[in-house]
Amino acid sequence: MTTVQLRELVLADLAAIEVIERRSYPTPWSRSMFAGELAKPSSICLGAFDADGEEGVLVGYLVVSRYVDAWHVMNVAVDPEHRSRGIAAMMIERLFELTADDARRGYTLEVRVSNATAIRLYERLGFKSRGIRRGYYTDNREDALIMWKDPVRSNGSQTAT
Ligand SMILES: CC(C)(COP(=O)(O)OP(=O)(O)OC[C@H]1O[C@@H](n2cnc3c(N)ncnc32)[C@H](O)[C@@H]1OP(=O)(O)O)[C@@H](O)C(=O)NCCC(=O)NCCS
Repeated sequence: MTTVQLRELVLADLAAIEVIERRSYPTPWSRSMFAGELAKPSSICLGAFDADGEEGVLVGYLVVSRYVDAWHVMNVAVDPEHRSRGIAAMMIERLFELTADDARRGYTLEVRVSNATAIRLYERLGFKSRGIRRGYYTDNREDALIMWKDPVRSNGSQTAT
């Protein structure tokens, strides 16, 4: 088992991102959507790199946008061959660390109601269901589950709601 390291994504990672994206979603984001997020100073874009080679090979990524009241998880994906190693959990926990001083913002995301693996992962990380967006996904009109997690303080405790 090799170690996985996290670092910020850069434009040079786009080709590798695209490969994982296409293997992960029925309606993948385009390269320009990722490039747009990478260019925003308010976004957090993390890549997980399998540190086997000298540079490391991209095995997963997390894209998060800062909104007024919340950090919005826009995209999280892990290469199929590297799933169930805790890589997605590691990236989301790093997000909590990076934003721990931000007592104002919680975390939110939408997930397909059929995506049991992702829902279990988010619940384990403290996200709770907060409602449904009917027909949110345009490819098959699937509903989205809206999930929310309150701000995480740097000492690990959560603020009261
Ligand atoms: C959802 C997704 C990002 C999860 O990535 P991941 O890196 O496999 O997630 P984790 O490894 O942290 O957790 C997934 C499972 O692996 C298990 N796991 C984690 N580390 C493990 C280890 N060392 N050994 C065995 N199992 C482990 C977790 O317990 C979890 O199991 P569960 O599903 O039974 O609860 C990935 O499946 C994916 O890319 N899916 C397609 C894109 C997608 O749906 N993204 C979410 C959109 S909202």
